[in-house]
Amino acid sequence: MDRTEYLQRLEAAPSLEPDRQEYFMDQLKTLVLQKSRELGRPMTACIQTFGCQMNAKDSEKLLGILEQAGFKASEDEASDFVLYNTCTVRDNANQRVYGRLGYLNNLKKKNPNMIIALCGCMMQEPTVVEKIKKSYRFVDLIFGTHNIFKLAELLFTRYFEKQMIIDVWDGTDKIVENLPAERKYSFKSGVNIMYGCNNFCSYCIVPYVRGRERSRNPEDIIKEIEALVADGVVEVMLLGQNVNSYGKTLETPMTFAELLKRVAKIEGLERIRFMTSHPKDLSDELIAVMRDCPKICRHLHLPLQSGSSRILKQMNRVYNKEQYLALAKKIQTEIPDLSLTTDIIVGFPGEMEEDFEETLDVVRKVRFDSAFTFIYSKRTGTPAAAMENQVPEEVVKPRFDRLLKEVQKISAERCSKDVGKTMTALVEGMDDHDPSMVTGRLSNNIMVHFPGDASDIGTLLTVRLLESRGFYYIGERIS
Ligand code: 5AD
Ligand code: SF4
Repeated sequence: MDRTEYLQRLEAAPSLEPDRQEYFMDQLKTLVLQKSRELGRPMTACIQTFGCQMNAKDSEKLLGILEQAGFKASEDEASDFVLYNTCTVRDNANQRVYGRLGYLNNLKKKNPNMIIALCGCMMQEPTVVEKIKKSYRFVDLIFGTHNIFKLAELLFTRYFEKQMIIDVWDGTDKIVENLPAERKYSFKSGVNIMYGCNNFCSYCIVPYVRGRERSRNPEDIIKEIEALVADGVVEVMLLGQNVNSYGKTLETPMTFAELLKRVAKIEGLERIRFMTSHPKDLSDELIAVMRDCPKICRHLHLPLQSGSSRILKQMNRVYNKEQYLALAKKIQTEIPDLSLTTDIIVGFPGEMEEDFEETLDVVRKVRFDSAFTFIYSKRTGTPAAAMENQVPEEVVKPRFDRLLKEVQKISAERCSKDVGKTMTALVEGMDDHDPSMVTGRLSNNIMVHFPGDASDIGTLLTVRLLESRGFYYIGERIS
């Protein structure tokens, strides 16, 4: 394909989506097959994913596009096409990407035809893009979170335009459905139910890089899950930054609890999970649906962020310590076998020893089954970054260590409470350390290791929990 032909093909592209991208996947495939013939081997593509479940899901879509365009998926970064799907929620995620880019540059020196692309949350920050343009000129393609569906078009273009291509959108109201996706697991899958976030917690960059909240139509969600189930999926994870506010902006509004009830009716679907919930929107209706529907897993991730009402106010979380405690108590009373997990930030601007003690107090009262603990990271452009009373690292670090110790102690106690019980586990894979064992996930999201082989993967088995190993169990199979 020469440049004239390329321009003709560009000209002939349909303007409507998803037809336009289907077209570009075909065009790219012609090109990829041609290059593969010249090389005498398949063209390979490698995606590295940083960050959360949303990014993991986006990467499955990106890989689906690449495979349809003729690339062979590879785990090896010495590939013909390498894509980093980045995260920017905390600064260490950014630093990891910059560090790894140097390594990619060395690989590219050995394979000058290699294409390096960056996408995801970090690329939505103008200062990041400026830095890459200036200091990482070997990068070929940059796009953001709103236009991942355009990968085939962008990559096709890059093969003919010999310069860095940058296509980052400020926002979008468009949801492009029905593009391919290459699932990592055959038996479980994430399903986006909404995109973006409107909460603007003062420390958080997500609303700036993922845009305003948009819910998918329930019909599209149900259709997607039905197709997944027909393809062997038994467990879905409904994904959104704040699933509890699902449906508010739909033409015919519906609640998240109603959506859950509809998803639960899908025959053949065995388990439903969801992520993430904001305490301010968690309704009694949702608690009742969770309690009454056995398909909904016994796990709720409910980020606390801080136990201090004063700090919560500064964080713009819209609940206080007492409200969180009351909500946690209500949930634990209604659904006693539920596992409650959380996120906590230490060292938010202005956090005093007393505030931190309040956080410890909530941790001790709620007794979370597990907690992700983070050191506050200053994100440029967020209100908290401009606050004057930033807490020095030497004050934050000891608090973080104290919190971690407390959280781990409680987790270990919580994770021994079910020893002797019989539960259902979805087998997710072989045990990394013992080839005679498999690893399964319980409804409450805790893992159990028990004897089995590869043929068990993807099946739901009954196991007795024999022993706790702190944050997982050793079990024996009953069925
Ligand atoms: N610093 C530290 N942790 C953060 N999180 C979000 N933004 C920041 C930040 N600036 C944490 C929150 C959130 C989780 C996904 O990441 O706890 O729930
Ligand atoms: Fe960030 Fe708050 Fe939105 Fe979660 S709810 S993504 S912490 S702004």
